[in-house]
Amino acid sequence: MKYLLCPSMLAADFNRLGEQFRMLEAAGVKYLHIDVMDGDFVPNISFGIPVIQSIRKESNLFFDVHMMVREPIRYLSKIVGSGADSITVHVEACEDPVMTLRKIRELGVQAGISIKPATPVAVIEPLLDLVDMVLVMTVEPGMGGQKYMYDCGDKVAELKTLAKEKGYLFDIQVDGGIKEDTIRSAMTSGANLLVAGSAVFEGNLEENLKHYSALIEEIAKELEA
Ligand code: DX5
Ligand code: ZN
Repeated sequence: MKYLLCPSMLAADFNRLGEQFRMLEAAGVKYLHIDVMDGDFVPNISFGIPVIQSIRKESNLFFDVHMMVREPIRYLSKIVGSGADSITVHVEACEDPVMTLRKIRELGVQAGISIKPATPVAVIEPLLDLVDMVLVMTVEPGMGGQKYMYDCGDKVAELKTLAKEKGYLFDIQVDGGIKEDTIRSAMTSGANLLVAGSAVFEGNLEENLKHYSALIEEIAKELEA
């Protein structure tokens, strides 16, 4: 099982993105989590297609685009054209999630499905053979710096069991409130892709990267023992 830290660009210093990407790459980070918000599905607006296109020239990281956008199907080809490697959509935001996920794969990138804290796993069960990743939100989507909701860990465990029973190979990502005191619980529940915004970008980025990479490695060893 690969356990990866996925720094969330939402918490970065937008004045010096290139410099920070180089620090992520030097620290061995593989994923960059990119939160696109539309001010409709969630109450905030973040950034979108031109920004992704521009940072693509600055980085070889795997662009993991988390779309908090209503009817994301409208933008998929543009998001792929801008440089995404994977696109995650919210089941609550799609009129036809099957068509949306199929289209993501047809465009040649990985597909993810996400659920908000109040959405049960049962809602996405029929979609699990169409995805490379399931993103379990551990806060209400829309902003960084919120508190981890421990109840959501139960959904991670449920997904992990389902994957085992049915032979699914999807990654399980958690997003929101991942920090020193919550990351162990998320990983123990079964999450292997760990999004972290404020924990990574607040304070000293290089030190935080070292700290969280070591912590993830330590917990992964315990889990695999
Ligand atoms: C929130 C976003 C997150 C956010 C996480 O809606 O999806 O990716 O950046 O921020 P932290 O890690 O600070 O909770
Ligand atoms: Zn996110």
